[in-house]
Amino acid sequence: MSQLFAKKSLEKLVNQVDGKHSMKRTLGAWGLVALGIGAIIGAGLFVRTAAAAGQHAGNAVTISFIIAGIGCAFAGLCYAEFASMIPIAGSAYTYAYATMGEVIAWIIGWALILEYALGAATVSIAWSEYLNNLLGGSIPHQWCHSPWDAEPGIMNLPAMCILCLLTLILMRGTKESAIFNAIIVFIKVAIVLVFVFIGWGFITDAFHTPYIMDPSLLEHGGKIPIGINPDGTTKIHDYTDFWNHGWGGIFRGAAVVFFAFIGFDAVSTAAQEAKNPKRDMPIGILGSLAICTILYILFAHVLTGVAPFIDFIKPEAGKEASVTYAIKTYMHGYEWLGDWINVAILAGFSSVILVMLMGQSRVFFSMSNDGLLPNIFSHLHPKFRTPYKSNLILLVFVGLFGGFLPGSLAGDLTSFGTLLAFVLVCIGVIIMRKTDPHIKRAFKTPFVPLVPILGMVVCLAMIFSLDGFTLRTAFSWMAFGLIIYFLYGMKKSKIKE
Ligand code: ALA
Repeated sequence: MSQLFAKKSLEKLVNQVDGKHSMKRTLGAWGLVALGIGAIIGAGLFVRTAAAAGQHAGNAVTISFIIAGIGCAFAGLCYAEFASMIPIAGSAYTYAYATMGEVIAWIIGWALILEYALGAATVSIAWSEYLNNLLGGSIPHQWCHSPWDAEPGIMNLPAMCILCLLTLILMRGTKESAIFNAIIVFIKVAIVLVFVFIGWGFITDAFHTPYIMDPSLLEHGGKIPIGINPDGTTKIHDYTDFWNHGWGGIFRGAAVVFFAFIGFDAVSTAAQEAKNPKRDMPIGILGSLAICTILYILFAHVLTGVAPFIDFIKPEAGKEASVTYAIKTYMHGYEWLGDWINVAILAGFSSVILVMLMGQSRVFFSMSNDGLLPNIFSHLHPKFRTPYKSNLILLVFVGLFGGFLPGSLAGDLTSFGTLLAFVLVCIGVIIMRKTDPHIKRAFKTPFVPLVPILGMVVCLAMIFSLDGFTLRTAFSWMAFGLIIYFLYGMKKSKIKE
């Protein structure tokens, strides 16, 4: 029992950084901000904004972004304190090990698999969607959709290919990946700005009215036909459902677009590769979060003003590759921009996948160093100093997720895992202030315990706004993780050494 709540001492953690298993320190503050933006702007913005607007929140998806952004800001402030205090790879997992004990650390580590591994898979699925759009829909449907999609396919081959390619780049090392990342971040921010500036002139005020969705004002009384079921009946999207209009829709929308914010915490997984982690980690985390939040709200406002949100539930219209669809359909004279944006989005998604895969291997690196996972996850390449074996094992699993899961399920599970980690990090800050008040913190979360408590409340509200199937799957995953812990991790843990 005592082992379950055994904590790792800060001293031990810090010593571990300078031991023989250390990685190269190559990242400065701007490198970290770029790493954050690289992980943040991706499928959440270019795919899930339209999904959240179309299915749940309508134009008020901007409010969903504000709610999700507030939750992230509170959690981000807590992350920044930890990252400046415990600058070690592994992020929330490591923080929990120092504050709440082994079993909670395990739970977070297990939840982070949902965040990083499934997150990478989700974005690879979105990548495949935009690639197919760029190629004019020439990839046969069955080879770019999972067997469990609304219109089933066999497997998602492009998603698997991009995952392979990026794993290879990652195995070469962080420095190379950071340069690749910086170029893509530049392209990504540029396309968001170009879309906002040009799209602003195409906003139709009528599309934005009313701003908060009222289903009784929609066609068919809010029960919109969107296709044919396998049994021949008409498939309906029901906006009268509590979660598909008004404030219910806004909260479910927040849980869906929350995916777009995931990644700022990935900065904390790279603490061991930061040159001056105490100063640079808070800048990296909060800086990237702030820049992205502003861009998102503007982007969502323009997207729902350029195209009516209802288009985004219709398979024949903007359900896939929604941004390109909106440009080509509604921004006359700028159709060329659609293809350029497509290419840029593909590049942007690649950087997200890269950071996610990197984050996952760093979490496994820490868990393996602690004995909770097999040694193989912390073997470093003799020349590149990267956990290359871990990268390869991950590729197998993430490749399977990317090839066979539908994007929406993978995305919602990713949000669950991340939100759970956020909640536990918020609790951790409060605990650490009580148990270790004197440790030097280069960055302190303001207004403790208010900020962490608000972070928990907003994140829990988003967790319970996810749909029932996602929640059941996620809790089963967590239960499975606990079984593995009791059968393996607990016995092999090095905490007693
Ligand atoms: N925030 C990342 C994205 O939206 C995960 O793709």
